[in-house]
Amino acid sequence: MSAGGVAINAGTASSTAARRLRTQVAIVGAGPCGLLLAELLHRRGVASIVLEKHTREHVLSRIRAGVLEQTTVDVLRGAGLAGRLDREGLPHDGMHIVWARRESFFIDAARHTGKRFTTYGQTQIQQDLFAAADRRGAQVITEAGEVKLLGFEGDRPRVEFIQGGVAHTLDCDFIAGCDGFHGVSRASLPAGVLREFEKIYPFGWLGVLSETPPLADIVYANHPRGFALASARNPMLARYYIQVPLDTRLEDWPDDRFWQELKARYPREMADAIVTGPSIEKSIAPLRSYVAEPMRHGRLFLAGDAAHVVPPTGAKGLNLAVSDAFYLARALAAWFNDGSSALIDGYSETALRRVWASVRVSWYLTTLLHRFPGASAFDQKAQEYELEYLRSSPHAQAALAEQYAGLDFEGE
Ligand code: APR
Ligand code: PHB
Repeated sequence: MSAGGVAINAGTASSTAARRLRTQVAIVGAGPCGLLLAELLHRRGVASIVLEKHTREHVLSRIRAGVLEQTTVDVLRGAGLAGRLDREGLPHDGMHIVWARRESFFIDAARHTGKRFTTYGQTQIQQDLFAAADRRGAQVITEAGEVKLLGFEGDRPRVEFIQGGVAHTLDCDFIAGCDGFHGVSRASLPAGVLREFEKIYPFGWLGVLSETPPLADIVYANHPRGFALASARNPMLARYYIQVPLDTRLEDWPDDRFWQELKARYPREMADAIVTGPSIEKSIAPLRSYVAEPMRHGRLFLAGDAAHVVPPTGAKGLNLAVSDAFYLARALAAWFNDGSSALIDGYSETALRRVWASVRVSWYLTTLLHRFPGASAFDQKAQEYELEYLRSSPHAQAALAEQYAGLDFEGE
C-alpha cells in the first residue's frame, strides 16, 4: 500500500452497499493531533486514513490556543509544515506576570533555557495541516457519522462509520483515537481499563480575538477582580482573556464591557497600551484538568485531548497534542518499518511523563494567577507569597521557564 493512505474498495460499492476500506493506521479525528499524526506517519512511510465527524469548515472555524513550544515548532518544521508559521509567527523570549499593586516581572525562558516560544494560532496550524494533506492527496473523510471502534483487543481492529448515507468498514492494523475530549475513542474502552484523574476549576475564561496590534509580550495578570491574559496571533491580531464565573453568559458581555474589565485588571501603563477594537470572536471556556491512563489498550492508542485536558493557563493543550502525535508516529513507524514493538509498548508511559509535567505546570499557574471564589485569608496570603517568591527568586523563575518553554522529547 502506498504511504498516501490509498483506500482499497473491495466491495461492489453502490450508493447503498457497505464499502470496505483498508489502511495501516485508522485515525479518528482531524484536529491538530490527528492531522499531524497522519502527516508524520506519511513521512515515515506509514499509510493512514483520517475520519472526522464534522465538516472541514467547522473544524477550521474553531478559535483555540496559540502558544507553541520550541519542540512543537521543531516538529512542524521537520514535517515541512512551518512555511507560514516561520513568516507570521511571533517569537517570544518569555512572558510577563503582573499583579495588583506589585512590580511586574519577566519569566525569561530564553535566558534560562535557551528556548523561545512562538505565538501562532491553532486555527492557522489547522489550515496548514489541511493544506499539506491536500497536497499529498491524503484521505481525510469528513462528516463520518456513527463511528464505532471494534476489534482493537485482538490483532484485526476496524472502524465502522456512515458517510453520505453509506455504511463503511475500515480495516486497519492500529487505531489512533485523536478525537478530542468528547470523542468516541476513550468511550470505546471497556469499563475498568482506564484510571481517570480530574480537577474542575470554579471559573471560566471569556476570550476575545480582535484585529488590533497586540502587546509586545504575553502578559498574565492576577488582580482582585480576577485573572487576565494578553496574547497575540500576528502583528494585527490580538487575543485577550479574563476570568469569569462559570454561569457567565456571552450576551452580557458586549465589547465595551469586555475592554473596560480587561483594562481594569492591568496596571495603568499596560491598560493604556492595550488597543481596543471590535471583537471578531468571543467565547467562554471552562477550565479543567483531566488525564486518562493508560493511553493504549490493545491496538487502540489515545492521543491529544482524547486522553488529557489541561486548563489553558500554561498554553499546553496544543503542545501536548503535538508531542503525543510525535511519540505515536515514531512508535508506529518502528513497528511497521523495523518490526520493533518497544516504542509502541512504551508509548503510554513516555507520553504520560510529558503530559503530567504539563498538567502540573498548568495547575500551578492556574492556582497562582486566578482569584478563587471562597478563598480564605490564608489561601490569599499563600498565593501572594508564592507570587512574591517567583518574582524575587531566579531559581523559581528558571523552574517555571523550563516547564513553560517546554521539555525536550525523550529518546531524541
Ligand atoms: N468521530 C470522528 N471525529 C470526531 C469524533 C467522532 N466520534 N468526535 C470528535 N471528533 C473530532 C472533532 O470534531 C475534532 O475535529 O475529533 C477532533 C478532535 O480535535 P481537537 O478537539 O482539536 O483535539 P486534538 O486534535 O487532540 O487537539 C488538542 O485542541 O482543544 C484544543 O487545547 C486543546 O490545543 C489542544 C488541542
Ligand atoms: C492564547 O494566545 O490563546 C493563549 C496564550 C497563553 C495561554 C493561553 C492561551 O496561557
